[in-house]
Amino acid sequence: MTPRSKLRIPFLLLSAFLFYNFHHPLANWILGSSRVAKQSLRQFNFPEGEEVYDATEIEEQHDVIKIAPAAPPPLYCQSYECGRGRWHPRKDPFKTLQDVQIAYSNLWHPVWDGCGIYDPFGELDGEEKKKVEGQRLVDTLNWEWVPGRGLLLEYDPVDFVVRMLKSPGGLVLVGDSISRQHWHAIYYTFRHLNITFDSNPKHLPLAGVANVEQFVLSKTSAMTKILQEKAGVPQSRMERPFFTLLEDHMGLGETDIRAITNAKPNYNWYHKFRRVEGWEDHLKWLAKPRSGEEASVTEDTLVMINAGAHWSRHELAMLRAPTDKQEQALLEDTYPRMIDLVTSRLSPIERTSIYYRSTSPGHPKCEEHTLPYKDMADARLQEQNLVQRLKDTVSSADEKKQRSRWDWDLFKAHNELWNRTIHVMNERRPAGAKGAKWHYFDVWDVSMQRPDAHLEPGKDCLHWCLPTIFDDWTRMFYHRVKLDEGRVR
Ligand SMILES: *[C@@H]1O[C@H](CO)[C@@H](O)[C@H](O)[C@H]1NC(C)=O
Ligand SMILES: *[C@@H]1O[C@H](CO)[C@@H](O)[C@H](O)[C@H]1NC(C)=O
Repeated sequence: MTPRSKLRIPFLLLSAFLFYNFHHPLANWILGSSRVAKQSLRQFNFPEGEEVYDATEIEEQHDVIKIAPAAPPPLYCQSYECGRGRWHPRKDPFKTLQDVQIAYSNLWHPVWDGCGIYDPFGELDGEEKKKVEGQRLVDTLNWEWVPGRGLLLEYDPVDFVVRMLKSPGGLVLVGDSISRQHWHAIYYTFRHLNITFDSNPKHLPLAGVANVEQFVLSKTSAMTKILQEKAGVPQSRMERPFFTLLEDHMGLGETDIRAITNAKPNYNWYHKFRRVEGWEDHLKWLAKPRSGEEASVTEDTLVMINAGAHWSRHELAMLRAPTDKQEQALLEDTYPRMIDLVTSRLSPIERTSIYYRSTSPGHPKCEEHTLPYKDMADARLQEQNLVQRLKDTVSSADEKKQRSRWDWDLFKAHNELWNRTIHVMNERRPAGAKGAKWHYFDVWDVSMQRPDAHLEPGKDCLHWCLPTIFDDWTRMFYHRVKLDEGRVR
């Protein structure tokens, strides 16, 4: 045998192996049928008991594959992948505000009609202003988040609500005004489909308490019947909220905050953080499985929590030190203590899946942007010197000091701390543990690349124009829950 022909036989065997192994799943994958989603490609095994191959015959029948194809990756983006990517122009762009209003039509709420515009000298008013605001909404909605690898599921609000009904407490948002904005965008997607609900009905605990929004599906609506049928849950479940907002800006109350910031006993507490006293207990109540519902209310209560933007020196005036650096170090000492308190209180709650939603960035001088960044590298480059650029937006020394105390530069570090903490908690979680399952839900990159989508350019470059990126967060969250619960691979 020549050396060449010695190599030839193993090569043909390998080719045959690869051919049989990949041809079938590859074809399926390329055809992209929904069948594929149900069957993991990685589970496709070489058929047993067929190890005898006549390599020549195979070579005659088919072209021998010369380059081994890589195993097809999963069709959908996985976990962290979904939040890595960039914004692409929407495939079917909205041309006018009317296009937007048709796509987002809503019988129960004023339809979205614009985003704040930058008009420092108040030159625009009336109809003209409305027109520019409307166009800004059109422009900011004409982008689509595309993960670098894998597809994102289409968001299905009906399926999402059914999932909520199948857990004792549905979905609960906990956080600050940005969480409230997100909550607003989410319930708008429900009403768009004529899913109607009552807010804070009197029979619920915390009905009428400030900063609490509890939605129970309305009894009279046709959609409610459909949703209940799909979920297969008893009437008792329908009496409780499927979607709740607990607007608590810090996640902690005065006593805790005093303790973890080492505030002096005579520190004058002037803060009016929005708060829901005892929100953790309410969460416990929501998540508690109910007798008579065991057969159908089988899922975990979902919690999406954030405690981000308010954890700054601006909000915590007891953190004072001679230099900026020393002062920030005090905050850096405080933040993980907050994480410890919050996680230690929530972790024992059984039947919950808790997602920490990362804090989204502010963009100094967001009024200078009308487009998303090209990609993450572009965003990082252009968003350097964050604090300096934020200080540059004001003139007096006092204002500059105040801007630096917003601590926008620490959002990322605080996010990373949550990510690490959750990672460690999960590593230590014993198999079969019953307490809360923690997840890190990252919206940093998605948001970082959208300096153009803030609420009020020139005035508020921290909040976001509704519904813009919130709808993308929702879609990513929906996708993530499906992944984590193994309903999609
Ligand atoms: C919602 O209800 C209105 C009025 O009955 C109807 O015209 C519209 O098509 C419904 N929307 C959806 C998405 O079913
Ligand atoms: C979060 O942590 C995971 C695992 O430690 C890491 O792979 C990921 O890159 C982190 N994500 C962010 C946004 O820091």
